[in-house]
Amino acid sequence: MTVKIYIPRDAAALALGAEKVATAMAEAIAARGLDAMIVRNGSRGMHWLEPLVEVATAAGRVAYGPVKARDVASLLDAGLLSGAAHPLCLGKTEEIPFLKQQTRLTFARCGLIDPLSLDDYRAHGGLRGLEKAVAMQPQAIVAEVTESGLRGRGGAGFPTGIKWKTVLETAGAQKYIVCNADEGDSGTFADRMIMEGDPFVLIEGMAIAGVATGATKGYVYTRSEYPHAIAAMTQAIEIARAAGVLGQSVLGSAHAFDMEVRTGAGAYVCGEETSLLNSLEGKRGLVRAKPPLPAHKGLFDCPTVINNVISLASVPVILDKGAAFYRDFGMGRSRGTIPLQIAGNIKHGGLYETAFGLTLGEIVDEIGGGTASGRPVKAVQVGGPLGAYFPRALFDTPFDYEAFAAKDGLIGHAGIVVFDDTADMLKQARFAMEFCAVESCGKCTPCRIGSMRGVEVADNIAAGIEPEKNRELLADLCNTMKFGSLCALGGFTPYPVMSAMTHFPEDFSPAPAVDAAE
Ligand SMILES: Cc1cc2nc3c(=O)[nH]c(=O)nc-3n(C[C@H](O)[C@H](O)[C@H](O)COP(=O)(O)O)c2cc1C
Ligand code: SF4
Repeated sequence: MTVKIYIPRDAAALALGAEKVATAMAEAIAARGLDAMIVRNGSRGMHWLEPLVEVATAAGRVAYGPVKARDVASLLDAGLLSGAAHPLCLGKTEEIPFLKQQTRLTFARCGLIDPLSLDDYRAHGGLRGLEKAVAMQPQAIVAEVTESGLRGRGGAGFPTGIKWKTVLETAGAQKYIVCNADEGDSGTFADRMIMEGDPFVLIEGMAIAGVATGATKGYVYTRSEYPHAIAAMTQAIEIARAAGVLGQSVLGSAHAFDMEVRTGAGAYVCGEETSLLNSLEGKRGLVRAKPPLPAHKGLFDCPTVINNVISLASVPVILDKGAAFYRDFGMGRSRGTIPLQIAGNIKHGGLYETAFGLTLGEIVDEIGGGTASGRPVKAVQVGGPLGAYFPRALFDTPFDYEAFAAKDGLIGHAGIVVFDDTADMLKQARFAMEFCAVESCGKCTPCRIGSMRGVEVADNIAAGIEPEKNRELLADLCNTMKFGSLCALGGFTPYPVMSAMTHFPEDFSPAPAVDAAE
């Protein structure tokens, strides 16, 4: 029987040499006349082990990694095709603790299947949610999503079912489903991994959203920096259309739904939903004032659902297994699972899907294994560039929307970026202001001008110029930006700045400069 060898086509694996490994493996298989084939899968999310090569054996998949092209010959010599021992052998993939301890609902198939095989997708439980949805009343689908407790994974944590209900109940000759795949947050890659590793789950989620709300057209808005995701999504859409999953009659039903991928140039503010809509309409990515809400007047002034990739990709399992199944995971008002993206200075970086409720300390110290540098952790920024820096003293905070908010932080898109004790938090605060200044859409003054002044004030503190007065000025400026900005770019930049100043005051009191003349 032909042996299947899995080598990821995920961008993270490619960046670490997966293409060279796949080429070397294909050449070696041909040269040795072996009965084996290569499947280009998504990543399992254990980035420190990429490129992770797996072989399907009768006992399950066996993993090897990180593999370099030069390792291919010795792997085959050792008996790779039967999952034999080798210094790079990691044992059965599913038994690797990082993977074994996860609860993979949204990422259930990522890394397991051939991303562009609809048969593989179906064989692993795909399309069951959509099959159920096309036989349900739209109100019942919306009720199921509402009862699951699913909240938007893009950042704001707004209940997905409520958003869908608003669009369902808003009259409109044309309605749209827009998938926010801009993924601009620092240290985040969950959206990309789904698009590259299991694109059909996003297509299925968007089709369910369409059936539930009466929208017949969907757009995946992503950025030009994601060429592999764009290629995979585009191909998957064509395959789904040819198979009747998309089109005039979704899975043979009376519902029509089709979709396409649109690419932005890659501006952080184009991830903000109204700015995204402008960009999608071919305009400059300028934030729109709300109301009207996109659910009432969104894309081309039509009722529009805008959801993050992970929100939409979590819907198929909810429809398949039921709201109660999903809601049973998690804590408080944070229900279900969340794909944590562990990045920065961390030993075991990658994607870890788990129920809400693990503490930040468990995530960083136990799952992540501490810093890659081996130095003590100083700060962890959760929630992207607008997220707060948490010190070790806050490591008992459970991963939960409300628990993070209570400590002046946010979960955002669940990006976790770790810094060791060499980080200078004043520099990080300055960076937050600079980032805001560079990425500001320019519509409102507190953000456009405030961020520029913020950089100057941070520089003055660093230079030892009236530090106390300038620290007060920085706090005052943050207050103005927080309450006076139109959107969360200006409004949340104070989170990283104020958390840095509050938790790491020593970095904001640099030693006075020594006069060279003395
Ligand atoms: C500056 C800024 C950038 C944002 N970037 C993203 C992004 O890259 N992806 C995303 O899904 N949401 C992003 N959001 C949040 C969106 O505005 C919106 O809340 C989200 O797409 C709604 O989907 P959800 O309810 O499924 O989370 C951003 C918000 C702001 C203010
Ligand atoms: S806060 Fe910044 S990004 Fe948001 S609308 Fe105002 S200027 Fe634009």
